[in-house]
Amino acid sequence: MADYEPFVAPDVSELIAVYPGTFDPITMGHIDIINRGLTLFDKVIVAIAHNSSKEPLFSTEERAEMIKKCFPVDEKRVLTDTVSGLMVDYAYTKGAKAIIRGLRAVSDFDYEFQLALMNRRIEREVETVFLMTGFRWIYISSSIIKDAARHGGDVSGLVPDHVCERLREKFLVTNGK
Ligand code: COA
Repeated sequence: MADYEPFVAPDVSELIAVYPGTFDPITMGHIDIINRGLTLFDKVIVAIAHNSSKEPLFSTEERAEMIKKCFPVDEKRVLTDTVSGLMVDYAYTKGAKAIIRGLRAVSDFDYEFQLALMNRRIEREVETVFLMTGFRWIYISSSIIKDAARHGGDVSGLVPDHVCERLREKFLVTNGK
């Protein structure tokens, strides 16, 4: 019998998920989903994607910067990236096992179901995982927050403080104040 322990290679495989969206801008609801994702996955890549039916207020760089500022600089489990092309292809090339999508209300379901089925048709190796948004964030969206901010409404508490500030700056400029 050998007088040494046989070498067992450590399991270095990481469970990675991609959380795609427009994030124009990131909200507390998105952060809630990212934090829930971190309880299931080793890494969450927050992927800023292009939705052909949206005209974002913030540039991709501005959105990425706002997302990064939501997490401590030494938080290695949350990565931010910009994606052009198919999300599921991106997820596959990153070795991600899943795409995370947040569900707020039943009204989200139809669109999300179509997206998930199309993604599965294109790439079977990547699953879609739906996480339920925290109750407090069920009725918010980036559009409603932008609309309130555009008209001078107080959106503090619905987005991080630095995002509040960026919204204020943006609308001071666009409203010509
Ligand atoms: N809290 C608050 N708001 C939330 C939320 C949550 N937990 N989850 C979703 N939302 C809101 C978002 O703020 C967004 O609001 P808005 O419409 O007012 O901007 C809305 O719900 C859903 O948007 P989002 O999750 O950002 O997704 P999207 O529909 O804008 O984008 C992509 C979908 C980016 C994932 C999709 O277009 C994509 O994958 N594009 C790349 C090309 C591709 O692969 N297409 C699919 C082909 S099958």
